[in-house]
Amino acid sequence: MTKLAVLISGSGSNLQSIINSIESGYLKDTYIAVVITNNTEAYGIERARKHMIPVEYVNFKSFNTREEYDGSVVELLRAYHADLVVLAGYMKVVTGVLLDAYKNRVINIHPALLPCFPGLHVQQQAIDHGAKFSGCTVHFVDEGVDTGPIIAQAVVPIFDDDTEETLSKRILKEEHKIYPLAIKLYTEKRLRLDGRRVLIEPPLNKEEAAIINPPLNF
Ligand code: GRF
Repeated sequence: MTKLAVLISGSGSNLQSIINSIESGYLKDTYIAVVITNNTEAYGIERARKHMIPVEYVNFKSFNTREEYDGSVVELLRAYHADLVVLAGYMKVVTGVLLDAYKNRVINIHPALLPCFPGLHVQQQAIDHGAKFSGCTVHFVDEGVDTGPIIAQAVVPIFDDDTEETLSKRILKEEHKIYPLAIKLYTEKRLRLDGRRVLIEPPLNKEEAAIINPPLNF
């Protein structure tokens, strides 16, 4: 059994996609031991409660430093015997305190094709830059912001009339597919870290694939 701890700050739609993947049997031998949040208003709390998943709130303001805050998060992770820490719309930068305690066991999802557009409001940044594609990335977390080794990515086109909202929606739909996929590969022990590279075992069939936007036959 792999016990997940899912850390959220907001809507929790990625949390929902993980819950659904467990309930449908896509993610086997996996359950969510705890949802941890820094925000009592997060809608994800209701999603967790509906599925009888324990929720823990840690108040960032009760700590003097990020490290002390993370120390208290680590205590909870240990109390729930978490194996893998899944950041899902968690609006806090994690420190070495958590990363040392859970070395190579913290993953995150980011709504852009890293290493392009790390940080916040990245859908708008991709539009403003004039990119023809964006997407989402699941990666291991290291001490940088959105810099860790990449596990999985999905690509979506950017259309001329896209707004931050329409692009975010298109990307989120793919997030809900690749986060469960990445967790599945992790729990099946099919990920091997080789420096910055995350290799998938056994190796995938190599099909040549290119995605072009605008389409060639347009
Ligand atoms: C997602 O776009 C995720 O990539 C980013 O924050 C958003 C969270 O959405 N890190 P939700 O709370 O899972 O609905």
